[in-house]
Amino acid sequence: MRRIFSGIQPTGSLHLGNYFGAVRNWVQLQDQVPECIYCVVDYHAITGGIEPGELARRTRQLAGDLVACGIDPSRSILFVQSHVPEHTELAWVLSAFAAYGDLSRMTQFKDKAERSKHISAGLFTYPVLQAADILLYLADGVPVGDDQSQHLEFTRGIARRFNQLIGVEYFPDVATLLSDGKRIMSLADPDSKMSKSLGDKHYIGLLEPASAVAKKIRSAVTDIGGEATATVSPGVANLLDLLHLCGAADKADELTASALAGELRYGDLKLVVAEQVNALLEPIRERRAQLSDAEVVDILRSGAQRARDIAAATMTRVRGLIGVGPEAL
Ligand code: TYM
Repeated sequence: MRRIFSGIQPTGSLHLGNYFGAVRNWVQLQDQVPECIYCVVDYHAITGGIEPGELARRTRQLAGDLVACGIDPSRSILFVQSHVPEHTELAWVLSAFAAYGDLSRMTQFKDKAERSKHISAGLFTYPVLQAADILLYLADGVPVGDDQSQHLEFTRGIARRFNQLIGVEYFPDVATLLSDGKRIMSLADPDSKMSKSLGDKHYIGLLEPASAVAKKIRSAVTDIGGEATATVSPGVANLLDLLHLCGAADKADELTASALAGELRYGDLKLVVAEQVNALLEPIRERRAQLSDAEVVDILRSGAQRARDIAAATMTRVRGLIGVGPEAL
């Protein structure tokens, strides 16, 4: 793997699902992959509605949170999607290669459309912009949570169709890089994935105070909900997963054994999970408190410059391949 790309929407605070599903993997991959490119995708965020004045603040906030998690601007390119206009340019080109039928089958679109009053065309073509994000950098791999697998399959499809119709093997076949925490569930509804859109009690924000984290874990649903895995309920399984992901595997195994023996006291489990999660989050909160807005804006400015060098080269080639732009005449 030579170059990876991934993105995250500035739609709210970073939560444990984002962290275990994607961001922690982004941090670790910095030691393994020569070029890591990470993007705050503000143009994706506007497909779900626009709150004037809020988006820029959230974009800056999220970028700072990513740095606090360990994204290192001296080793990775960290930037904002709208600062590199080639993303939307390539999205338009790729939309000509995308099939309406494929877009209609996207489960994220169907889920979001069900919950929206105004279903924007942007929400429908969202995966085309995502494919453009990735292919613009000719990335070999994309570290994401499981909910993005279908969008990545779609990206591979568009790349193949482009290569086939243009007759050049230009865009690479992108690998989906899933982490151990590829699907973290909601605390209040362990049959749904943890997400910002479900509401406050469903997720744990990375920067929430320790007492709020402990309170949310204390109120996590343990008994009811969905089909049990073996004899452990989905809520308990999710808490045990969190424990594993926090690096407390021995403790998790011990508690799993007592759960299977019917001897687990949920209060004990929740106490241990809260301790471990807070121990993991404490250094992130500390680093975040030390980062100023000006530092974050600086990081994003130089990130956009570096991203743009790569993006501009790809777009020059793509324009040439399809016969548009002044050089094609
Ligand atoms: P977004 O902003 O919803 O989420 C960012 C990342 O967090 C992962 N994730 C989860 N992983 C495990 N369990 C969960 N409960 C959970 N919730 C979120 C997501 O899988 C994702 O990796 N469409 C993308 C953003 C995007 C993108 C891209 C990603 C735009 N362009 C190009 C990769 C490459 C999204 O909405 O992610």
